[in-house]
Formats: sequence, structure tokens, C-alpha cells
Amino acid sequence: MDGFIKSLPKVELHIHIEGTLEPELMFELALRNKIKLRYQNVEHVRQAYEFDDLQSFLDLYYQGAQVLQTEKDFYDLTWAYLQRCKMDCVVHTEIFFDPQTHTARGISFDTIINGITRALQHGKDQLQISSHLIMCFLRHLSEQDAIETLLQSVPYKDQIIGVGLDSSEQGHPPAKFSRVFEQARELGYLTVAHAGEEGPASNIWDGIKMLHIARIDHGVRCVEDESLVKHLAKNRIPLTVCPLSNVKLKVFQNMAEHNVVKLLREGLCVTINSDDPAYFGGYMTDNYLAVAHALDASKLEMAQFSQNAIEASFLDARQKAGLKQVLLQYVDQQLRPIL
Ligand code: HPA
Ligand code: ZN
Repeated sequence: MDGFIKSLPKVELHIHIEGTLEPELMFELALRNKIKLRYQNVEHVRQAYEFDDLQSFLDLYYQGAQVLQTEKDFYDLTWAYLQRCKMDCVVHTEIFFDPQTHTARGISFDTIINGITRALQHGKDQLQISSHLIMCFLRHLSEQDAIETLLQSVPYKDQIIGVGLDSSEQGHPPAKFSRVFEQARELGYLTVAHAGEEGPASNIWDGIKMLHIARIDHGVRCVEDESLVKHLAKNRIPLTVCPLSNVKLKVFQNMAEHNVVKLLREGLCVTINSDDPAYFGGYMTDNYLAVAHALDASKLEMAQFSQNAIEASFLDARQKAGLKQVLLQYVDQQLRPIL
């Protein structure tokens, strides 16, 4: 199983680029930008990564992001993630970035997006990894702030496929952002949103009905509403689930209690993703392995997660068909002796 998972072609749909900032790079960038960190060394940073809930993580995540200052910093961050993708056989990735975390500190939109997209182009040319970029609004800030960010993004629209919604879910429901999402759709952006991670199942309904989202990020609390689970299955509305993240943030007490395989067996379009791998202890392969080991999933089920991610991606039909072919060939070659 481990070998099968390691080489399985994968598609990632829920990754915050700021959440790929490894402590080593954090120190390197702090030195380069003459920023004093509150930690003495890399081990101290890792020791601090013990979280009680989403907010305790977000506090450290926003603090870590402060070392990102120049275009080269954003390039280096993204390039390091892409190299990790290559190791994990990730062939396509749809990456979140949080412009407000940086523009609020005086970093220009230009700096952020140029650094990230230059690395993505190199990823395509040198590593054969395709990608899309999704701009997330921080839900703890106002809708007006999100609208201003949306307007700032317009000159870069060709490089951004959609908008999303992240940060503190409790107290900041989808309804707060219905106008900015409507404006984003009018501009031609696709939409996704974090919902049903720490918040109730009603946030998932509201994401679908009010924000017209194409995918739910996390969505694991859908199980609290049977009619919602049926709706998600019937309409194949994708969930981008992040198993190691959910356990680290205590959405589930341990991996054996996670519902991702149960949801797969109920016919939902669930996918496996890494969220903030530098903080949650694992990239794509680690997440797939953790699920397979704790939840007794078969190789075909693990491959189904990857097929779901191809289906749920924002690639066009021809690109999806190409990736599906690559995946089916891999599964066929691996499982032929036992089929
Ligand atoms: N949830 C909400 N906001 C986030 C997350 C998450 O898992 N990761 C980064 N920002
Ligand atoms: Zn997330």
C-alpha cells in the first residue's frame, strides 16, 4: 500500500501557500529581511505547533507569514512547495493565497502575485506540474475589505481562476460575503469557500446557496445534516478534505475517527489534501498514507480519491481526460496482477 500511494498520481485542491512555509525557510527569510523572530531555532518553532483549535493555529500562521516581504520570498516559498509536489507525484495543484495577510503589511499585490506566478511557470516548465491560483478573502475582516481586495486583483485576473474564503469560520458565516462573491462571479471568477470545518453544516448550505461555490473546502461537518449529505452525493459537489489538518486542529480526536472514507463510500466526491503542511505535519503523500493506515481503505479507494480530485479540479475537460488516463494507466499497471 505505501509504495502504491507514494507513486500514485495526485491532484491537490486545498493548499494555502503561506501554510507551506517550513521553519527552515522562515529562518532564512527572517535573516534575509532582518526580521527578529520570537523563536531561537527551528526546533522551537516546531515545538510551538501544538494547537487546540483553528484560532490557535491561525495566530501562529499569520505571524509566520510576516517574514514574506519580497517577490523573491514568494517565489522561494512557492518553488519549495512545487519541489515537494514533485516528490509526492502531485501532477496538478490549485493553490490558495491570502493577499490581505500581506497587503495589510504594506506588501504590494504585484509583489505577491509576481513571485508566486513566476514559480508556478517554472513548475510547469521544469517539473511538469500544472496549477491554478485561488485568491482567498480573510473572513475575520470586513466584506468591504474583501471588495477592495477583489478590485485590486482585477489587473491580474488572467492569473487567478477563482476566489475562496478562509480564516476563522466561527462567527463569520458565508452570508457576510454574499455581495463580494456575487461581484467576483460577475468578473468571471469561480468560487469556493471553507465551510463545515469548525462551523455548522448550515454554513455548507449557505456556501452553496448564497455564494454558489463549486467546491466546499473541508465540509466534514456535513454529516450533521442527513439531507445535506444526500444533496452533496447526488450533485457530486466536491469536498476538499484535509485529514492531518483536521486531527491537528481537533476537528477529529484521532485519524481512526475521521469520516473521509465513510463519505467516499457514501458516494460523495471527497478528495484528500494537505491544507497547511508545514504546520500540520504532512504533505499529500503523508495525508494519503495516514488515511489508508487508520481507516483501512483499499488501493482502489485511495485511487478513487485521486480520481475525484481530477473531477473536482478547475481543469478543462481535455486536461481532465488526460490526467484520468495517466491515473488509470497507473492503477491498471499496479493492480493488474490481482484484478
Ligand atoms: N481553515 C481556515 N483558514 C485557514 C486554514 C484552514 O484550515 N488554513 C489557512 N487558513
Ligand atoms: Zn484551508
